[in-house]
Amino acid sequence: MSTQEGIRPAPVPLVLGGARGGPKVKTLRRDSWKRSPLITQGYLILFIVYATWAAFQNSNYYVGASSHRDLISPFYSPCIGASCVPGSRGSFYLHWWTFSPALVILIVPLGFRITCYYYRKAYYRSFWHSPQACGVADGHKKYTGETRFPLIIQNIHRYFFYLGILLNIMLTVDAVVAFRMPGEGIGFSVGTLVLCVNAVLLWFYSISCHACRHLCGGHVNEFSKHRIRHRFWKIVTPLNAKHMQLAWVSLTFVALTDLYVRLVASGVITDPKIF
Ligand code: FES
Repeated sequence: MSTQEGIRPAPVPLVLGGARGGPKVKTLRRDSWKRSPLITQGYLILFIVYATWAAFQNSNYYVGASSHRDLISPFYSPCIGASCVPGSRGSFYLHWWTFSPALVILIVPLGFRITCYYYRKAYYRSFWHSPQACGVADGHKKYTGETRFPLIIQNIHRYFFYLGILLNIMLTVDAVVAFRMPGEGIGFSVGTLVLCVNAVLLWFYSISCHACRHLCGGHVNEFSKHRIRHRFWKIVTPLNAKHMQLAWVSLTFVALTDLYVRLVASGVITDPKIF
């Protein structure tokens, strides 16, 4: 017997074909493939709990003129409910909506993220267990994918992308408005910085979207005949490769932005002026 044969692992019974949900041996993988879906699951639950709590608070989402600031939480912007605090909303609002405005506004970013190609992969793996991971049998007996109801609805993603762009424009306006310090003129505070970083990250997340890349370069047979689209496609393609990272960073920062505005608005901390 050679040395190599001496260290060969014991044979593992294998059902070839990877019947979904059926075989006794679900995978031959020996690495810790469950770790990543578990971390994803924990992080998403944490975000969902925080966002739900913040959305139902209906308070402490705006820092206004009495504090010489103009800061609004991204969860509540644009503030279009009848209950919006003075200074936080424009002339257009829904007179009939008296509940927390966040419950209306969050439909867009939530729909955008839920139907996002990356998040689908993340929650299919971590919550639905179908598919669980590469080389691992499904947690369900049947698999219909996204070809029929209800998951065919995921195709709505490109429309949420358009709405998401509108929301990004509004959050960018909020970031610019945050330079206004009522009673003090124009200035720059930590809150301004937070709102600016949040807007930039949301733009990066949006333009790295697969629907955006398709919009730039999809259905094009010859890039030489579509130079502008090619140029945009070349810009968004490397960002698209980082979509997962941008998804997590922007998700985390949007919650931190809400938290920061909330802490300032409730008087727990003050918003330091930088210049
Ligand atoms: S694919 Fe993730 S936002 Fe579009």
